This record gives sequence, structure tokens and C-alpha cells, in this order.
Amino acid sequence: MLDVRDLNVFRGSTHVLKDVSFRVEEGELAALIGANGAGKSTTLLTLSGLLPPRSGTAVFTNDGEPLDLTRASSEKIVRAGLIQCPEGRQIFQSLSVSENLAMGAYTRRDRAGIKQSLEEVYELFPILAERANLHAGSLSGGEQMMLAIGRALLAQPRMLLLDEPSLGLAPLVVEKIFDVIARLKSTGVTIFLIEQNAAMALDIADVAYVMETGRIVLSGTGSELANNDRVRQSYLGVAA
Ligand SMILES: Nc1ncnc2c1ncn2[C@@H]1O[C@H](COP(=O)(O)OP(=O)(O)OP(=O)(O)O)[C@@H](O)[C@H]1O
Ligand SMILES: [Mg+2]
Repeated sequence: MLDVRDLNVFRGSTHVLKDVSFRVEEGELAALIGANGAGKSTTLLTLSGLLPPRSGTAVFTNDGEPLDLTRASSEKIVRAGLIQCPEGRQIFQSLSVSENLAMGAYTRRDRAGIKQSLEEVYELFPILAERANLHAGSLSGGEQMMLAIGRALLAQPRMLLLDEPSLGLAPLVVEKIFDVIARLKSTGVTIFLIEQNAAMALDIADVAYVMETGRIVLSGTGSELANNDRVRQSYLGVAA
């Protein structure tokens, strides 16, 4: 579904992504783990059409229709069903919860379908239904993360890109978010999960990639990487 080959991306004069290649198959949950500054968010911005790469390709295929992400507009990428839930959530603080959710459906015209998606999000996150008319800025961090995921779901993703959904959240909220991610996967949404919480990410990932200073240095199934000595020492805090 997503085929990334030899991406090289510069930010300013810094060579951030170096020959990055990976694949995500349809229906799979793939995780990308790595330390601060490794290039994870840069990878996501490149896949969302927001950062043009210096070289390499990234092709998203939905229903047999390939889309070259390095040349497509962000709107075209969203219409193709590749939806991102960005780092830092990027909620519109002064809009209400329901208005934020509605923004997620901006490319859709099927009013009945939008209403149904909204009901599904409220079922998934009842707290958002309770807070529907409040300013998003008044939500807690965990609730804002739920709102960001809910907004992404309003766009009807075929594939969802999540950038550090657990960041700064209490363990119980992190569990709730990961439950929802697993549930979305079970409904057939393909997921690309960026995480620093390597333990949680490897636990639910079908496949995972480790990024260090802009390069993919390891890959394998979630359990293979969870049992890899280098991963255990560097990312799971297990002493050598
Ligand atoms: N606008 C920019 N100009 C120049 N360098 C940048 C810019 N944005 C990011 N970088 C650099 O690119 C590198 C990768 O950043 P990126 O945000 O992709 O890392 P990350 O893996 O997402 O880290 P984190 O876990 O902290 O979110 C870092 O060294 C960062 O300083
Ligand atoms: Mg980041």
C-alpha cells in the first residue's frame, strides 16, 4: 500500500533523511521508532506532501491506483485516503470540539456519511460527545489527542499516519489510545505509527523500523525487534 524507496530529504542545508526505504502492506500496522531528532516527523511530513524530497520515491496505492506522494498536493493525498494525525496534535484551540471534527471532513460532500463517521467517533471517544460544544483549548492533553485522532477519522482514512500519539500522556490514557489504534486496525485501516514509546509500539506492530540519524538501521516484525539486543538496550531500557 505504501512503498518508500531511497528517500533523501533536506531541511535547510541539513541532510535529514538518508536513503530511507520501507514498505507498509495493506491492513498492516507498521511502526517507526527512533530517538529525538532521528527524522521520524520529517518522514511523515514527506509522506504528507509537505516536504519535497531531494531524491527517492514514495508511492501510495489505494484500490490499485498509485499516487506519487512526492509530487501530489496535500489535498490530493487526503482525497486518496492517506490521512495524517500530526505531531503536537494541531487542534484549533478556539474552535469547538465538534467544529474541529468537522474540519476533518473538509474534502467530503456525503452528508449522511459524515454524520455516521461523527457518530462512530463519538462512540469511540464518548468524552468528545460530552465536550462537543466546548472550546478545544479547554480539553486536557489526552482529550486533545483523542480529538486529533477523531478528526483524522472524519477524513475516512484508508491509511492513517500517527505521529507520537502517546507523547506526554498518562499511562492509562496511552492505553486507551493504543486500544483505539488496535481497534482501527481491526476495521481494516492500514496504520503507520511513529512512536518513542517503543515498548507499546512494538507490542502492537506487525512490522517495525528503527530510525537513527535519518537512516533505517533495523527492521523486522514487532516481536523480532522487541527481542533484539540493540533495540532492548537503546529503546526498551533493558540493561546489557
Ligand atoms: N525546519 C528545519 N530546519 C532545519 N532542520 C530541521 C528542521 N526541522 C527539523 N530539523 C532537523 O531534522 C532532524 C529530524 O527532525 P524530526 O523532527 O524529523 O525528528 P523526530 O525523529 O521526529 O524527533 P522527535 O522524536 O523529537 O519528534 C533534527 O535534527 C532536526 O533538528
Ligand atoms: Mg517528531
